[in-house]
Amino acid sequence: MTPAAAVAPDALGLVGRLGALLDARDLARVGDRLRRLDALAADDLAAVDRAIAALPREGALALRSAGHLLALGGKRLRPLCVALAARTGSGFDEAARRLATAVELVHSATLLHDDVVDYGELRRGAPTARAVFGNAASIFAGDWLLIEALGLVRDARVGDTLERLLGVVREMILGESLQLEMRGRLMPDRAVYLQIVEGKTAALFAWATYAGGRAGGCDDAQAAALERYGRRLGIAFQIVDDLLDFSGRADRIGKALHADLREGKTTYPLLLALERVEGLRSRLEAGLAEGDLAPPLAIEIEDTLVRCGALDDSRALAEQYAAEALLALEILPRGAAREALETVAIAAISRDR
Ligand code: IPE
Ligand code: IPE
Ligand code: MG
Ligand code: MG
Repeated sequence: MTPAAAVAPDALGLVGRLGALLDARDLARVGDRLRRLDALAADDLAAVDRAIAALPREGALALRSAGHLLALGGKRLRPLCVALAARTGSGFDEAARRLATAVELVHSATLLHDDVVDYGELRRGAPTARAVFGNAASIFAGDWLLIEALGLVRDARVGDTLERLLGVVREMILGESLQLEMRGRLMPDRAVYLQIVEGKTAALFAWATYAGGRAGGCDDAQAAALERYGRRLGIAFQIVDDLLDFSGRADRIGKALHADLREGKTTYPLLLALERVEGLRSRLEAGLAEGDLAPPLAIEIEDTLVRCGALDDSRALAEQYAAEALLALEILPRGAAREALETVAIAAISRDR
């Protein structure tokens, strides 16, 4: 990966402004920003929640299994992206509501599948659908939600959003499948890492902001800017997810710690450490060969990541992508929605869950 193209020269004072925005991570100011964001989007997200709650959850195993995940909530970040993008234009209408619901269902579908692939036991602080209903039920549940989502996007009838979502789903499958192929290889390859992250996570964020913008009637240049914002935001978001696997608190993230390490996934923090620390690769390989990675070894490797600066430098890369996301917003009309999108990017890198 060429880590994020450098942020543009400061001719327009952009870098200074970005620096100020990123400094806004100090908690009090983020708190104010989040309150304004909430005032803007709370009703939109409530409408999405009602649409999700109205889906059938009883009867067939696939429905019960999907219902288990849906009932646990989640951060609803992708529907928020649709809503805010729509609000940079004409606002959050019925079509935008369908698109916002759809993006959460696609996301949920990928979680149901991902937990099968990753042997996930815990999600959103509860046993995964696959732990409760079995792997096959979790797969069917994901398939069902995906079809529901595509139907919603078809019914929304917003520009080329359905066509683009088909492309995104393809990209997501290829991202997850590449990740599976690379599992256990412990190859510090930035291009591969970025391809996986763009596929499995960033493509859907990019669709969310693009689709929201289109629902809000924005022009081609604005739609492209929103898409660029979403892709950068998604990459930053996944790098932080990868960081939280090492440095998070299990009760905050609602998932097990060190899960990526146990699966031999070369996430960005591990990638940096593999480059910097001689002998790390063989220690980890030996640990993985024994079956389940012993917790003391996982903790020792976490310490190694801290000491060699891999966690700090991964955070710096996430910040760089967040800064690029902010930069992409510059051509959009100033206002509450644009400010809220900035807040989302700031929150994505300061989050602990
Ligand atoms: C988890 O996404 C999967 C990743 C792309 C890292 P979220 O962290 O948005 O999950 P929920 O919806 O809040 O549970
Ligand atoms: C994101 O990757 C997965 C999807 C986009 C489905 P992860 O495997 O890191 O997600 P978590 O950590 O299980 O939520
Ligand atoms: Mg996973
Ligand atoms: Mg993860």
